[in-house]
Amino acid sequence: MLQIKNRETAKLSPLIVSALLATTLTACGGSSGGGSEQSSSSSESSSSESSSSEESSSSSSSEDNTDGAFSIDPDFQLYALADFPVGVAVSAAGESYSIFNHSDATQRQNVITEHFSELTAGNIMKMSYLHPQEDTFTFGDADELVGFADTNGMTVHGHALVWHSGYQVPGFMENYEGDFAAMLSDHVKGIVNHFESEFPGTVASWDVVNEAVDQGGENGFRQSLFYNELPPASEGDIPEYIRVAFQAARDTGAEIDLYYNDYDNTANDVRLAKTLEIADGLAEGDLIDGVGFQMHVYMTYPSLNDFENAFQEVVDRGLKVKVTELDVAVVNPYGGNAPDELEYDAALAGEQKQRFCDIARVYLETVPAELRGGFTVWGLTDDESWLMNQFRNATGADYDDVWPLLFNADLSAKPALQGVADAFQGNACNSDI
Ligand code: G3I
Repeated sequence: MLQIKNRETAKLSPLIVSALLATTLTACGGSSGGGSEQSSSSSESSSSESSSSEESSSSSSSEDNTDGAFSIDPDFQLYALADFPVGVAVSAAGESYSIFNHSDATQRQNVITEHFSELTAGNIMKMSYLHPQEDTFTFGDADELVGFADTNGMTVHGHALVWHSGYQVPGFMENYEGDFAAMLSDHVKGIVNHFESEFPGTVASWDVVNEAVDQGGENGFRQSLFYNELPPASEGDIPEYIRVAFQAARDTGAEIDLYYNDYDNTANDVRLAKTLEIADGLAEGDLIDGVGFQMHVYMTYPSLNDFENAFQEVVDRGLKVKVTELDVAVVNPYGGNAPDELEYDAALAGEQKQRFCDIARVYLETVPAELRGGFTVWGLTDDESWLMNQFRNATGADYDDVWPLLFNADLSAKPALQGVADAFQGNACNSDI
């Protein structure tokens, strides 16, 4: 089992960080759309919607930055309030919003080391980035990211060793003519072993397989390239490729936690049952340590009971629960909100603070300390979120911002950050800002 790395030995002094941050807490700039296109169809959809038409009322603890963003001046470091990894997905290398190349990269790094203890690569540790050709692994960009985490006493949650989606599937794996299971096993081992030998203990966990469930697929499993090559060995089994990938990761002997990760598996009973079927199949061979819930959620959907029930199912199996990709869009486009009606006012900022708090509270109340795999948000600042592209693609409407994360575009902290902190500190959740 894993140890949480000791942040205090490596990170910058909070005083230095605070001084650096102070220079960035200027009025919030206009937020642009997401910096990258995304092709994943994954999102939790529902017929419910959330919006607030209440008049805004500013409070002394919150600054209205005039363009609809509200900020707080945190007197805490979020990760220090938790005894489990508190993570953030980041862009790196030459991506938009890269923590190494963006114009505000230094400030971005400072906010990240101030409030988080774990990083997930939003993209650059996916399959084709690390393993573009059968005999070629390319670790340079990922090493820069993992090295940054290592230097700052943080861990990394690896994402993802096997995922069906789009361009990130290495071309050589398609129409592969050799032994597919052996190739997949080498893929997993090559990646896990690299980080384990270069940065021992830093990549502490992996999404070994991501998004294998599909209600429209065969027996509820997605008929991906991997499924087609290595389907269930017999009726009622989980797909063989999942077993092969987890077995390979386990066989490395690395002290890492192995997760099965999926979306829309809290309120959706069918998808939850399939997720649990995969977990049970892997648990028989002691091949899995936990289940990742992506949790791309909305203000009122799924319900807190849905989260509790889903987490409890995993806890009952003695497996870890990790919130792997949390974001809370303040609008549900599938519920019919028109983007020109969107206004992120003080009431909505307060409701979102309460929503983040409630989600974190349910996590803490349902998952015992020894099974808390971590709590990760999918991006740092609202303007970098993948959701605007997702909503545009899904509806054709122009969603400029859906304010789903914990920091404003100018890197100032939102009341939502206070919400998570309240839950981590055992304080009651409220919408006061
Ligand atoms: O910069 C690249 C370029 O080099 C590349 O050749 C080209 C390929 O289309 O476009 C650019 O890549 C984009 C990449 O983000 C980096 O910005 C891709 O088009 C774009 O599709 C990709 O979107 C990502 C998406 O996964 C697909 O990989 C999103 O940023 C990322 O947030 C999203 O994350 C997923 C999780 O991995 C799994 N769970 C759902 C979640 C949201 O969809």
